[in-house]
Amino acid sequence: MACADQPWSLILVIILLLHVITSSSKPDSEILLKFKYSLGKNSRLSTWNTSTSPCSGDGTNWIGILCEKGTIWGLQLENMGLTGAMDLNSLKELPFLRTLSFMHNNFEGPLPSIKELRALKSVYLTNNKFSGDIQANAFDGMLSLKKVHLAHNRFTGLIPLSLTILPRLLELRLEGNKFEGAIPDFQQDGLKVMNVSNNVLEGQIPEGLSKMDASSFSGNSDLCGPPLGLCPSSQKLSVGTIVLLVIVVAAALAAIAAVFVILRRGNPTPQLQEAPGSLHVHKEVTFTDADNMEHGSPREHSSKGRRAGVDISEG
Ligand SMILES: *[C@@H]1O[C@H](CO)[C@@H](O)[C@H](O)[C@H]1NC(C)=O
Ligand SMILES: *[C@@H]1O[C@H](CO)[C@@H](O)[C@H](O)[C@H]1NC(C)=O
Repeated sequence: MACADQPWSLILVIILLLHVITSSSKPDSEILLKFKYSLGKNSRLSTWNTSTSPCSGDGTNWIGILCEKGTIWGLQLENMGLTGAMDLNSLKELPFLRTLSFMHNNFEGPLPSIKELRALKSVYLTNNKFSGDIQANAFDGMLSLKKVHLAHNRFTGLIPLSLTILPRLLELRLEGNKFEGAIPDFQQDGLKVMNVSNNVLEGQIPEGLSKMDASSFSGNSDLCGPPLGLCPSSQKLSVGTIVLLVIVVAAALAAIAAVFVILRRGNPTPQLQEAPGSLHVHKEVTFTDADNMEHGSPREHSSKGRRAGVDISEG
């Protein structure tokens, strides 16, 4: 009886397996087709159709899909003339997706919301027509992200700060855009490749990047500091300080001159004539005081001093 049961359980297992396989591969194709329709029409993606599943083992039936053991770990859609507003959100449902490359296409508009795909390890968007500012928090929470290639697009504004706190960042290529402002402080020890050449960056290169190749920074309007030449900012500052000093000194001199003029005009001559008299009295007092110190008692001295003081105030 046990022998008769076994075939049934085997068939059950096979049905279950088939169900798992079909249910896991069908969503993948659905997910990818949804993504495909967010792109402009393009004959290069004709193999993305329901006649096959995207992966077969480590191999792939659909162009540009990277598979391993039947699961999709990457999209590599390069040099295909792709356009449109890619719907990265639809790719969220591919749990093993780790890399995206859309290099050398015609994508335009703002940077897609990459951080929706938190587990990504690499993003390659070099040589497209993406444009506009990138939000400072565009890469927030991407703890696995190692390679970010955004070179040769039309990005503007500041280099997004969230790049500076990616714990695993190895490569950052931003060359050939219109990034402006200062380079933020990258502190990742692992950062091996960094290229921000041919942008409109300015200011001092952060110390943490001073050991990078100088060619990583070339072609910017006003970058300075190692590995490029020393910053002229300190010289500019000292020129500014000198100018400021000259102004302050001139103002002080003018103020002193003004005080003299006011004093000369304001003090009538009688006072000037009185002055020598009072000085004379004062001299006499100090003389008496000195005598008392040598010969007399402190009491005598103090009483005489008081009298002398009264004399001065009355005379
Ligand atoms: C669907 O993909 C297969 C390859 O997987 C291809 O041979 C076929 O031409 C495609 N069908 C269409 C309608 O493009
Ligand atoms: C950086 O990119 C420029 C092109 O913009 C290239 O000439 C240079 O060799 C690159 N440097 C590094 C270190 O990658």
